[in-house]
Amino acid sequence: MKRLLLASLALAAGSGVCAADVPVRVTVDTTAPGHAVSPLLHGVFFEDINYAADGGLYAELVQNRSFEHAEHFYAWGKVARGGALDLSIETAEPLNAKNPHYLRLAVRDAGTGAGLANYGFGGIAVKAGENYFFSVHARATENYSGSLRAVLEDETGRPLGECKCDGLAAAWRKFDGTIKCNATAAHARLVVLVTAAGRVDLDMVSLFSEHTFHDRRNGLRADLAQMLADLHPAFMRFPGGCIVEGMDLPNRYQWKDTIGDVAERPENWNRWQDAIRNQTAPQYYQTYGLGFFEFFQLCEDLGCEPVPILNCGMACQYQSKQLVPVGQLAPFVQDALDLIEFANGPADSPWGAKRAAMGHPEPFHLKRLGVGNEQWGEDYFARYNIFQAALKAKHAEIAIVTTAGPGVDDGSWKLAWDKFRSGTPAEIVDEHYYRPSQWFLENATRYDAQPRTGPRIFAGEFAVREGRMRSTLHGAIAEAAFMTGLVRNGDVVAMSSFAPLFAKAGAFQWQPDLIWFDNTRVYGTASYHVQSLFARNRPDLALPVAVEGEAVHLPPLPDREISTYGATPLPPYHPASLPAVFAVAGRDDRAHEFVVFLANPYADPRTARIELRGAADVTAEIHASVLTSASADDANSFEEPRKIFPRDEVFAVAASAFTRSLPANSLTVLRIPVAP
Ligand code: AHR
Repeated sequence: MKRLLLASLALAAGSGVCAADVPVRVTVDTTAPGHAVSPLLHGVFFEDINYAADGGLYAELVQNRSFEHAEHFYAWGKVARGGALDLSIETAEPLNAKNPHYLRLAVRDAGTGAGLANYGFGGIAVKAGENYFFSVHARATENYSGSLRAVLEDETGRPLGECKCDGLAAAWRKFDGTIKCNATAAHARLVVLVTAAGRVDLDMVSLFSEHTFHDRRNGLRADLAQMLADLHPAFMRFPGGCIVEGMDLPNRYQWKDTIGDVAERPENWNRWQDAIRNQTAPQYYQTYGLGFFEFFQLCEDLGCEPVPILNCGMACQYQSKQLVPVGQLAPFVQDALDLIEFANGPADSPWGAKRAAMGHPEPFHLKRLGVGNEQWGEDYFARYNIFQAALKAKHAEIAIVTTAGPGVDDGSWKLAWDKFRSGTPAEIVDEHYYRPSQWFLENATRYDAQPRTGPRIFAGEFAVREGRMRSTLHGAIAEAAFMTGLVRNGDVVAMSSFAPLFAKAGAFQWQPDLIWFDNTRVYGTASYHVQSLFARNRPDLALPVAVEGEAVHLPPLPDREISTYGATPLPPYHPASLPAVFAVAGRDDRAHEFVVFLANPYADPRTARIELRGAADVTAEIHASVLTSASADDANSFEEPRKIFPRDEVFAVAASAFTRSLPANSLTVLRIPVAP
């Protein structure tokens, strides 16, 4: 039997050929309710990587709207139409100091319309019947007699709708208009034309659909945000990720640059421009149109807790390694204190007033704040200690998220935990693991022996990474197997989030990801459905579970598969065996149901005898959600977005024990009504 299991596991990423069902007993002790499972256990991690923000969740349709990219005309093209004009980028008397470049149109002859076209992020996708909000900051030479026309055109040049702005004057002024679109087009362009000769300056050329998530102005793409809502996240970590650190210190994420009028938010280059070999995107920028106010607002719209992570005076330790001297950290610490006031302070406090001016006088109820992304070593702790003391002195109510470094089970991670266990104060420790599927199976028991007092864990970034870095069913079920351990240890594991969240087809830097999109479509990977199933079914209390069945033995992973990038690995952990299925159970006290998660990551189906020890006979129907597919190697795609999708069924039993088949490579979630 052992040989059979080993051999069939080897097939797991292959054909889906099944051997006979393997019998398993899963006993849930309903008489011994255990610890409470953290209400924040399942959340999301947002970072502007893979065009997740600009060109993605942030619904701005114009790329390079303020001409601040290094290639100032990027995504723009000249339009003459029988006229004669020159386009130039100017800096004299700009719109404001934070937005120093603007476009100048020197029009000698306007022809039938002279100006420029924006091609969006690989085209502008528009829909028939929808309104589009156009805006621009403009000025013109004294006594300019012409108008500005904003025209949506499809890729053949056919007009789809337009609006007109009149009254250009010598001073900068913002103009707004609405374009009613008469046809659907995936690759439209926005053409801005002047109607008379003269000199016209333009900046912040912007176009949004009227339909954003919750219909907010300066809003988010409704379909992508809805994917987040459907995950039922308990929290959202933002804005990253390495983007918090920046490639170097000037490139770091500074939240104060991301609030207020969007025209006053200075653009920053995105550190993922050239971080990954063969995946460069030299004109990948952060407009910060999706900034900290919008992040907080999104959390509110999603009904989840905001968890911002701030730079702690360190740039990326893999790249520039720049450090702010410990004696010069005060402004960084002040940024953190000011953020707390921005989120929670009264509307008449200096930073609370900025929040109120943006339309949100009520507080955002910030409770947790991260200091540093995945920093490591003595350099980190020297800085962390300063932040920790200053934040706690003024805001004891804010829990601090501390990092254990970029990986686990390596020298940096050990140093961090040695410190946490010998006096360095820590409340929530962020651990990251991007590892092969076998590592996730072997680490499902990772937190079973975690001390029940002391810091709690934030599994802040994790994903199976192996092979061709695709999101397969096989990887997703390994994540599910691992997550049974997060629920079982939901007293010490406070929070968890898969990473990264979004990836744009044709414009990504990092795989695998949870959600793929292009300008018109979106789908969730198998991992997405695992996250959603766990979040939607999180129990309030854990119940003890015993699994009996032939254990599975795997050869140790090669060292190269174990080591984290950059740091020295400790001797790898390799358990003697893995369980016949990965199971965890609990009680949902709101719904009055037992919840049982059963992950079968193997290539053979299991026949599970499930016993609810101590429970009355189940008389009502059981609800099952099953996530599986024909082959372990299957994946969702734009063509087959629901190839791997939870299948719901109900079935009746008349006892407190019943049999259930667990398909190969599957996650099954059972909701069993508790008899009164
Ligand atoms: O999720 C991608 C990157 O992985 C994050 O930016 C970083 O924190 C980790 O190294």
